[in-house]
Amino acid sequence: MVADGELTSGSAIGEFEDALAEFLAVPHAVATSSGTDALIIALRAVGVSHGDEVIMPANSFAATENAVWACGATPVLVDIDPVRHTLDPALVETAITPRTRAILPVHLYGRFADVPGLAEIARRHGLGLVEDACQAIGVTGVGQHSDAAALSFNPYKNFGLTGKAGAVVTRDAEVGVSARRFAYHGFDPERKNVKEDAFGLNAKIDNSTAAVALGLLPRLTLNSYRRAFLAKRYLDALEELAADGTAVLPAFTPDHAWHLFGVQVAAGREARDAIQARMRTADAVETDIYYPVLTHRQQTPLHRKHFAHVALPLTEQVHARVLHLPLHNNLSLSEQDRVIEALHAAFRATAH
Ligand SMILES: Cc1ncc(COP(=O)(O)O)c(C=O)c1O
Repeated sequence: MVADGELTSGSAIGEFEDALAEFLAVPHAVATSSGTDALIIALRAVGVSHGDEVIMPANSFAATENAVWACGATPVLVDIDPVRHTLDPALVETAITPRTRAILPVHLYGRFADVPGLAEIARRHGLGLVEDACQAIGVTGVGQHSDAAALSFNPYKNFGLTGKAGAVVTRDAEVGVSARRFAYHGFDPERKNVKEDAFGLNAKIDNSTAAVALGLLPRLTLNSYRRAFLAKRYLDALEELAADGTAVLPAFTPDHAWHLFGVQVAAGREARDAIQARMRTADAVETDIYYPVLTHRQQTPLHRKHFAHVALPLTEQVHARVLHLPLHNNLSLSEQDRVIEALHAAFRATAH
């Protein structure tokens, strides 16, 4: 590949796109240089542009809202449902205005949002539906009920590569064609350097990265099983915390990619922060909070202008209580046991 000079363009891209489409049972895949680019491209491909509104949740990696801003559109933030903790279809419907162009659910932490429910609303109101599936590759249903789904393959994701990468997958041939053009300068894929669309990014996956992706794709299912196994192990080991009401644990459901494992500390933010601090200082166990600042609480002038009066009670409650434990493909059982012991000890220490 290096000798042939095929580092950016080359045959691995098409081969990987075919393999990905086959793996996900979605007919069209366009591999991109990141999940962020995949989101921008997917939103543009369903028609989102300047002055539009896009309905989305407030807890996500900043790429979700950044993709909306990048299209010249404005995020409209809606609360989550009490079961999945993803975009609540009933509340989405109440947030639709004449400017709404699309709905953008996020499969946060890997839990599949209610895309069929959202699809029904999108259809009734003539809206686009794009999934932020950057944390959810491997979950049945991704790309099956929407106009397009955006995936991320950055090294921290379930299907992590050697650099930044992502993809748009879609059932809609026209969305697929637009996505391919938007991913490469608006060019007609059949005619070199001839534009067919005014808009376009330099956001095709590199051929070298696609070759790595082709090599790693066969391992994805095994890694997904391993994550589910580790999640179940956490759930079993933490059962008593859930039983006595001190913690709320995620449900073990098949529609979950277990990208992140979050425990909710029932006593609230102060107790959660104390548990996190105690795990770090007493047992050298690092935990995290995804994401530290909700979209409507970011303090840029733009955020203050748009979201100063936004209140999302359930999003805020879950966000104040959640603590993420280590979970990755290479987590060993002894490492996981150390985390479990440290968490139990921290709960005991902060109970008094
Ligand atoms: C929910 C979500 N959306 C979008 C992205 C952006 O993906 P990438 O880092 O590949 O641009 C990520 C990951 O970083 C993510 O977790």
